[in-house]
Amino acid sequence: MSSICPHLLVFLSLLLCISSSVTNGQKRGFIGITDSTSDSAVVDSATSSMLTSSLTTVFLPLIYIFVFAVGLPSNAMAVWVFVFRSKKIHPSAIYMANLALADLLFVIWVPLKIAYHLKGNNWTFGEGMCKVFVGFFYGNMYSSILFIACLSVQRYWVVAHPLTQQRTDKRLAIALSVGIWVFIWISTTPLYLYQQTVKVSVLNITTCHDVNLITNIDNPFLDVEKPYYYFMVMAGLAFILPCVVIIAAYVLMMRKLGQSTMEVSSASKNRRRAMILIITVLVTFLVCFIPSNVMLVVHYVLLGKGLANNGYGFYIIALCLASLNSCLDPFVYYFVSEEFRAHVKNTLLCRSSRTVERMRVSFSSMKYSKKSNTYTSSTGNTDSSTI
Ligand SMILES: *[C@@H]1O[C@H](CO)[C@@H](O)[C@H](O)[C@H]1NC(C)=O
Ligand SMILES: *[C@@H]1O[C@H](CO)[C@@H](O)[C@H](O)[C@H]1NC(C)=O
Repeated sequence: MSSICPHLLVFLSLLLCISSSVTNGQKRGFIGITDSTSDSAVVDSATSSMLTSSLTTVFLPLIYIFVFAVGLPSNAMAVWVFVFRSKKIHPSAIYMANLALADLLFVIWVPLKIAYHLKGNNWTFGEGMCKVFVGFFYGNMYSSILFIACLSVQRYWVVAHPLTQQRTDKRLAIALSVGIWVFIWISTTPLYLYQQTVKVSVLNITTCHDVNLITNIDNPFLDVEKPYYYFMVMAGLAFILPCVVIIAAYVLMMRKLGQSTMEVSSASKNRRRAMILIITVLVTFLVCFIPSNVMLVVHYVLLGKGLANNGYGFYIIALCLASLNSCLDPFVYYFVSEEFRAHVKNTLLCRSSRTVERMRVSFSSMKYSKKSNTYTSSTGNTDSSTI
């Protein structure tokens, strides 16, 4: 139950922030109204000041640089470890490999986003690349939530049925992963169907996904209908539904760990790992997924009603924070997978896996020689070690 309360708290405080900012302002936030003479948009002063503010041209690129610098190596290493280095393929390794792959597919496009913000929110890579970025951004967000849900259920299963057979589990994990990729592939196509880049003539820039074009000011809903229904449906299917599954899995898991009858040391170790995993996932949701999904729904509801939205700053920050999930997922791999943990430790200590192997060999031979030494030592000379 403890995992539900913070969710609710954040949700309520966000709603409070948003409702107060909505009632305060009369200005229209980030709606581009089409210029009758060209295909470029005219935006109000609040919008243009946001597009030139240091929030969007300094703070956001810094976050994305961090995401790229941390997310790329850690997820690349995770894919490498789970795909090429695992001796026995465990269902949780399958989910984590897919999670790392989803992060990697997003992180490789992040340099475009960094350049976009550094150039003063000027998208110079064309409408096609903007659609690709947006598609991979949301594809990453929703697939990460779904893979984390699968992983959480699997972790619960391991705790609840420690002696169960792996084989059927593994087939299920592969089938579910393929299903998720197909779902993500289909569900991101609507993002390619409407225009994402909007020219802002006052500032001489082209924005990507940041300004919504409204052609008819009397009926703004017509222009945001597609994203409105899209983000509503996705929030239900790929956010609230997995959230319920994750909360259920962790509540059941904690109950199971509470009544565990395993020997004390291994039980407390298991419990500690499980708690760290739960906390990591909780942080990921609090930072990345809850703000972005709540703000997406709020944003498009307000746009559709043609209402003022001075909470737009919250909206773009929330979307930016969603990309941090690529940096938080490696912590999940670290706490779940012993192999990944070993590889991270070796990398941080600048040891190659070959050295580790050699060390292990020499260590075990050392143990062996020690052992044979103790065997022979029964005859007398105990203190003459052979090291
Ligand atoms: C926009 O930028 C282009 C290229 O730098 C320049 O030729 C044009 O005059 C600028 N327009 C405005 C309105 O600043
Ligand atoms: C944005 O990019 C376009 C195309 O490269 C360029 O013409 C324009 O001058 C840029 N705007 C600013 C404000 O730098």
